Amino acid sequence: MLATILFLAFWVVLALVLFFIAVRGGLGGARATLQSQSRGARTALTFIFVVVYIGFGIAIPAAILNGNQAHASSQIAGVRLTSAEKHGRQLFGQNCGICHTLAAANAVGKVGPNLDMLKPPASLVLNTINNGCVQNPPPNSPQACLGQGNMPGQILGGKDAQDVASFVGKVAGKE
Ligand code: HEC
Repeated sequence: MLATILFLAFWVVLALVLFFIAVRGGLGGARATLQSQSRGARTALTFIFVVVYIGFGIAIPAAILNGNQAHASSQIAGVRLTSAEKHGRQLFGQNCGICHTLAAANAVGKVGPNLDMLKPPASLVLNTINNGCVQNPPPNSPQACLGQGNMPGQILGGKDAQDVASFVGKVAGKE
């Protein structure tokens, strides 16, 4: 981080020096300007240097490095995820994305229903993970779903299952 800023600052300073020399008509002109006794010129020069240096050399790289980057992965279309939900998103990618489409997890599976359209609340997701779905379940079975196919139960358990459920519920569920 600091190293990157210093690296950028180095090139900015170098560019400014070259720019200054060029604008002042070569090395001789640059020296003449630096040695000029005009206060106005020196003040203006210092001002420009400080503004450009701080603006481009420090503020912009620092903002880019520091700014949204660390938080970008915790936000989806303005929805802020808790660390448990981020964990859920990761698990979703590993365990559910092959069969389900869910934009917030970049998942495009086509075996099961599209969760962006189904909009399952977290409770339904958890229930489905725990029990799975079978196409022709016995009456009152917890494995009854939409009748579109089979989904294995218990792919995940415990906190993992809860994290996935709260992630899906948050990004897609209509609650
Ligand atoms: C092997 C493919 C497959 C995997 C992996 C899979 N699913 Fe499914 N899922 C399905 C199918 C097929 C259905 C539709 C079942 C039906 O309609 O009877 C379904 C249905 C669902 C439903 C809707 C249930 C309902 O009652 O409407 C939810 C929610 C769901 N899955 C969530 C998940 C989550 C979360 C994971 C990851 C832990 C996951 N699925 C992993 C195939 C899969």
